[in-house]
Amino acid sequence: MPLRARTTATLTQYLIQQRRRFPHASGDFNALILDVAMACKAIAKSVAYGALADLHGNHAADAGGSVNVQGETQKKLDVISNELFIRMNEWGGHLAGMASEEMEDPHPIPEQHPKGKYLLVFDPLDGSSNIDVNVSVGSIFSILRAPEALAEGGPLTEAAFLQPGAQQVAAGYALYGPTTMLVLTVGNGVAGFTLDPVMGEFMLTHPELRVPEDTSEFAINASNSRFWETPVKRYVDECLAGKTGPRGKDFNMRWIASMVAEAHRILMRGGVFMYPRDSKDTNKPGRLRLLYEANPVGFIMEQAGGRASTGRQPMLDVQPTSLHQRIGLVFGSKNEVERIERYHAEPQKFNDHAPLFAERSLFRD
Ligand code: F6P
Repeated sequence: MPLRARTTATLTQYLIQQRRRFPHASGDFNALILDVAMACKAIAKSVAYGALADLHGNHAADAGGSVNVQGETQKKLDVISNELFIRMNEWGGHLAGMASEEMEDPHPIPEQHPKGKYLLVFDPLDGSSNIDVNVSVGSIFSILRAPEALAEGGPLTEAAFLQPGAQQVAAGYALYGPTTMLVLTVGNGVAGFTLDPVMGEFMLTHPELRVPEDTSEFAINASNSRFWETPVKRYVDECLAGKTGPRGKDFNMRWIASMVAEAHRILMRGGVFMYPRDSKDTNKPGRLRLLYEANPVGFIMEQAGGRASTGRQPMLDVQPTSLHQRIGLVFGSKNEVERIERYHAEPQKFNDHAPLFAERSLFRD
């Protein structure tokens, strides 16, 4: 039997096809996504070269390292990835501004470049504690419409970015793993592309990603268990109790400490991810960031039939109050996320610490 070439669409072809739904679209949006994809390809290359190009370790280690706005030590690749995102996206004329995990203030478009109607928010390298140990890391991005005043040339302010996740126009992530993948939603389902390293093209390999509604796999950093709130303790205890517990089945647990990698696993085979609000540091209502972690991953999950929540309300309904706001995040298989929301909403037996009714946690208080 003659061998037939295996053909799949490129990212560009996919975007053109999506744009046909909007005959009056200018093409700006597609061009923006391609610029973002270019940044991801450049980051993939730097990540792949790693120690060969002296790209592991902390930024400016000789000078004692540098710390970002989150108070986290920046890795060399954090800084390089941030620069690549900016460089690839500021010249194209599609953006009115950018904001990044690595920059305290929004990044305006330099005078010499035209401005556009979108805003780009990103975490250039998520899970960066995994870089030096050669475990998967990723980039996450969210695209919003710029408020009209800004698109018409007004000054770039933090307020322009404070839009609920439901207003995202697109969101995605790149995963730098055994293969480099780009996973994207433009509000019409979720598609996954694998980078062909020879052609340098993202090829459509996963056209319609769906998160299974049920799962028996969960992901949480159990070293924080003493700080968890009661509904989370209850959920995890019930999972750990397995077949003979209230859930009547055994659960498996995973923790990569790279949210993009966990989100990808969940998109591929289901699961639930929790980095909930806890009492570890009362100044931080959660660990992960709303605008460039929780919202884009939330949009992707919902578009793939999953769910994303704070535990108390749908993630995409949250009105942001600051650029680098942190939030408790639960996402993944719909039925499990809804169960966790129910546990948060349920009164008192499990929530009020009443000693007569308090369940004993397998992770001790
Ligand atoms: O900055 C975000 C992040 O690296 C996520 O990708 C990951 O889920 C989380 O932090 C890991 O946090 P911890 O080290 O507390 O497990």
